[in-house]
Amino acid sequence: MTILKTLAAAALIGSSALAGTTAAQAQDYPTRQITMIVPFAAGGPTDVVARLVGEQMSKTLGQPIIIENVVGAGGTTGATRASRATNDGYTIIMGHMGTHAASLALYPKLAYDPRTDFEPIALINGAPIVILGKKDLPPKDLKEFVDYVKKNESSVNQAHAGVGAVSYITCGLLNGVIGINPVGVPFQGTGPAMNALVGGQVDYMCDQITNVVGQVKAGTIKAYAVATPERNASLPDVPTTTEAGLPGYQTTAWNALFAPKGTPPAILTKLNAAAAKALDDEKVIARMKDLGNDIPKADQRTPAVLGNLVKEEVDKWKKFLKPVG
Ligand code: MLT
Repeated sequence: MTILKTLAAAALIGSSALAGTTAAQAQDYPTRQITMIVPFAAGGPTDVVARLVGEQMSKTLGQPIIIENVVGAGGTTGATRASRATNDGYTIIMGHMGTHAASLALYPKLAYDPRTDFEPIALINGAPIVILGKKDLPPKDLKEFVDYVKKNESSVNQAHAGVGAVSYITCGLLNGVIGINPVGVPFQGTGPAMNALVGGQVDYMCDQITNVVGQVKAGTIKAYAVATPERNASLPDVPTTTEAGLPGYQTTAWNALFAPKGTPPAILTKLNAAAAKALDDEKVIARMKDLGNDIPKADQRTPAVLGNLVKEEVDKWKKFLKPVG
């Protein structure tokens, strides 16, 4: 047999074996630990939700789910890493409205397209945004806050988790509604950003309620308003932006699970079922409620719903955001 025929034969066996292995893999999946990339620092809202849901998914799937915090560039470093991972179901990512929608409008050379370079697994939570100030920021309410940051635009600073992060885009919206362009102070996540706010090193921030409830209850920061039509049961004394005089500012973030493009459908089905089951777990429901999060209803947890949401959100954020740099 000529060398070419041998190589061709080997390639054929290899590919059929690979295909066969993929089918067998899907059937037995998972047979080893799964990595869940969190594209922000530990302790922030995406990390908290990832660990909460990942713990329950691990029980269902029968294998450990290891959280890997891959930080930088507003979450796009971790999302790029996930988009390039082997599509065998052993690397997934907890992305969100920033990494898997808004970033496409901000980064002209983004290394991935959230609509085509990922397989949607499931929407995980809705996290209303809260307008926060450091404890000794002078304004006592949102009206005074708006006046204050307008008057002190050149000296106030606003914390965020990098260009494209939820805290970056949602405070970008707020700054646009108010008509200011303050100094931004980037962090590797709103976990560390919150530490700076509590420490008084930054003046204000727009963050997912997940990260806020404990600090507000402890009195370490000020919460001026929650950007939803109704008050949030986890922070009943925090007014809505409408009540507080800024009805034009309404925004809620979402976190969701994705796998790299080409992950076998049978594996995606198992991951989706484990995620959906985690959202019905009493402990998860109770914790999400305590943290002010909304859990999607059962019919909102399908890959198709998430895929459509990503497309809608990419189109929505393109209207508000211009490429940076
Ligand atoms: C985080 O987990 O640190 C946040 O999701 C970052 C952000 O997007 O603001």
